[in-house]
Amino acid sequence: MRKNGLVPKPVEMKEFPSDKSCFLNREIGVRMGGFEPWCLLAFLQRTGRTLIAGREDITLIREGSAGEEGYRLKVTDKGISIFAAAEKGVIYALTTLAWLLDGEEVEACEITDEPKYAHRGLSMDCARHFFTAPEVKKVIEEISLAKMNVFHWHLTDDQGWRIESRRFPQLHETGGAHYTQEEIKDICEYAKVRGVEIIPEIDMPGHVSSLLAAVPEYSCSGKNVNLAKTGGIYPVILCAGNDRTYQFLDELFEEMCTLFPGTRFHTGGDEAPKKEWKICPCCQKKMTDMGFDNYGQLQGYFANQVSKLLKKRGKTAIYWNETLQSGMQQTDVQAQYWTLQHRDSMEVFADQGGSWIYSDMFELYFDYPYSMTNLKKVYSTVPHLGERQMGKENGLLGMEAAVWAEHITDNVRLENLLFPRIYALAEILWSGQGDYMEFEERLKKISEIKYMVRLHIRSVSGGIQAARSGKEKLFAT
Ligand code: ACM
Ligand code: ZN
Repeated sequence: MRKNGLVPKPVEMKEFPSDKSCFLNREIGVRMGGFEPWCLLAFLQRTGRTLIAGREDITLIREGSAGEEGYRLKVTDKGISIFAAAEKGVIYALTTLAWLLDGEEVEACEITDEPKYAHRGLSMDCARHFFTAPEVKKVIEEISLAKMNVFHWHLTDDQGWRIESRRFPQLHETGGAHYTQEEIKDICEYAKVRGVEIIPEIDMPGHVSSLLAAVPEYSCSGKNVNLAKTGGIYPVILCAGNDRTYQFLDELFEEMCTLFPGTRFHTGGDEAPKKEWKICPCCQKKMTDMGFDNYGQLQGYFANQVSKLLKKRGKTAIYWNETLQSGMQQTDVQAQYWTLQHRDSMEVFADQGGSWIYSDMFELYFDYPYSMTNLKKVYSTVPHLGERQMGKENGLLGMEAAVWAEHITDNVRLENLLFPRIYALAEILWSGQGDYMEFEERLKKISEIKYMVRLHIRSVSGGIQAARSGKEKLFAT
């Protein structure tokens, strides 16, 4: 039954005789127990339920013993009880309930559940190719149904600037298709009610052709730059020696930080060629003034200036792991590991108490074909640096898959690359590794009802009203 088709697999599940099922019709009442009403929204949208007063089909009970995302879900013929410490726990209990709901019936059971890792993410590149706001919401809905909780949104790169800026409108005017500030707000709300944190990424000091196409004065030479037309690593980057660069970034972050409510902001830091810095008088002067003897240190300085701009706005900076090469990063920033090339500084950062995210390109880059990274390989991922296995005790927050969009032009291709691999990652992040064949069996169950999920997502994209008025039983067989 549905209980045998849950991905990720719950930590503990007790089953009861099937004649003790609970029934939830189209109108339900919820006793809130002091929880915020927004934590019900995704469940109502997903299952087409309407909230009414005067009934208590679901009772929420605050119970501090579970972690922030943990929950206990008890289904009996008398009703449904959810025990959780925080709204996120309620969201996950209701996500499980949405999967268990078979038409109007949920079989009796008791599930006690909580994730292994706190950071369960997907990074999606919307800069190389643009994906519309409804397409982004679709991906967020699908990952949240697998209890993933981070959507890392790669919004700027050489090929495009995807954020409306009212302070510097030339950025989105030059940068091609973009999300309006209204769309960004809507997506952030959509993610919040699904327990998903949005981590925006504005990549710098490299991968900035779209930024410099609008404001060329912040490169070393100040010469005109064009938007890139193909993938690659482009040589013109932000000038790290000119204080005006940091004044500009300060004003930019002033606006960008208010758009995204989360407390983390990714500022890239990958693949920044130093060619221009080597011939720039400003960068040379900064090197001398700071006593630096290599350009990795100048990048470390740049990253520290940026993280200060974020910190004063209550945000923690995240960088790709090349940035750690300078050895100058404090442990109040976070790192995202993708390339073994700079493993040593990654290890030092972890050993010094830094927090980091594992995104090894050979295991978790889902733009690579299945022939290179198949489902079983993803499921078998064990975070490691070289021979050294890493875990929470080494500051590891969790893992993130990435999907880079240089060669992904539409969302059908995107979703084929993401699914089913994302389920393997979601499972190992929430439940840890188990028997792979048994996981595949559960995954088959999901595939059976997946087309219904798609139906539902289409209706959400068309507006919540459509979902509510639709006749389809979203999770029904
Ligand atoms: C990256 O793949 N350049 C982070
Ligand atoms: Zn310079």
